[in-house]
Amino acid sequence: MSDPALHALFERLRNTSGRKLLIADEHLDCSALLQLKAVPELQILTNRQDIQLCAQQAGLSSVFNDMDLTPLGAAFDLIAYRISKEKALVHQIINQSARHLSAQGELVLAGFKDEGTKTYISKAEQYFGCKAQITRGERQLQVATLQLVRLGEPLDARQYGELQLIAEQDGLRIFSKPGQYGWNKIDGGSAHLIHCLGQQLQAGLIKPTTALDLGCGYGYLALQAARLGIASITATDNNAAAVFSCLHNFAENQIPGEVIADDCAANLPAQFDLVLCNPPFHRGFETEQALTEKFVLSAFRHLKKGGCALFVVNHFIPLDAVAAPWFHGIELPFRDKQFKVFKLSC
Ligand SMILES: C[S@@+](CC[C@H](N)C(=O)[O-])C[C@H]1O[C@@H](n2cnc3c(N)ncnc32)[C@H](O)[C@@H]1O
Repeated sequence: MSDPALHALFERLRNTSGRKLLIADEHLDCSALLQLKAVPELQILTNRQDIQLCAQQAGLSSVFNDMDLTPLGAAFDLIAYRISKEKALVHQIINQSARHLSAQGELVLAGFKDEGTKTYISKAEQYFGCKAQITRGERQLQVATLQLVRLGEPLDARQYGELQLIAEQDGLRIFSKPGQYGWNKIDGGSAHLIHCLGQQLQAGLIKPTTALDLGCGYGYLALQAARLGIASITATDNNAAAVFSCLHNFAENQIPGEVIADDCAANLPAQFDLVLCNPPFHRGFETEQALTEKFVLSAFRHLKKGGCALFVVNHFIPLDAVAAPWFHGIELPFRDKQFKVFKLSC
């Protein structure tokens, strides 16, 4: 396993008796999870559909939701948590952990200095009313163990559980919530993609009636595609917060179509006239070319013959090279210093 923070947590999970909970988000992958198969009394909580499927296949007990510990009950002897990228989520997990530990139960936080770990540990100390035991490791890793002494003020989780109206645009009311990528803004790249989609439709270059929004987030591309007249939209994402927000936005804006939790549409057999995608290019704190390849291949598999995909990526992502083995037509309808929009035809 390449992440020393996860490695440290896995050691604790293996060496602790009693009920244990691992909070699993973007840092985990299937191969890492399989190393925990033999750990007794282990529960996994994840907001990622791919991790949930992998845990189920490995026979691990797991719950998939938007990082809500409520259904898991109380009295864990250990809660192990690899610090996430998003501050609101980290605060939400620390706040909830206090209510789900046994009397002598421990919360173990692991992360690196440049991820804000020191600040999170000090906030958790104030909330738990205790002094953390801290061990240090390679690359300025910090692993903190906390036991609840006296509950203080909860950390600011930006009203984690609530949908918030983030934009009113083109007659659309767009809601989102913490727990997903760029949750409180409209992505600049996605706005460029929609501009290109409008141009393609207006010029009659494409005439789609069905579209797939692959990695939909709160559903910006799907909502805009419906506004531009595409009759039926399917939106899918791996992340529970994204699916929850997108479902709400479909209902709020009366979008014809459905929203599905899935790992890059792996379990979605349907094919579409158009795929819209602003793919992720990092997992946790690391960038990952394999993710781009996974999304391009999924787009190809979900297109009808003669269909096309519009992708937006940061200017340094070599999407054309990744797409070349699959798509016979690769055009670049837009580029600036930050983004490139590709039209991929099959
Ligand atoms: C850059 S965001 C784009 C969000 C949205 N389409 C937009 O334009 O605002 C990438 C999205 O991909 C999702 N994602 C990451 N890995 C995924 C996977 N394996 N399967 C499906 N979606 C995934 C993330 O949760 C995130 O919502």
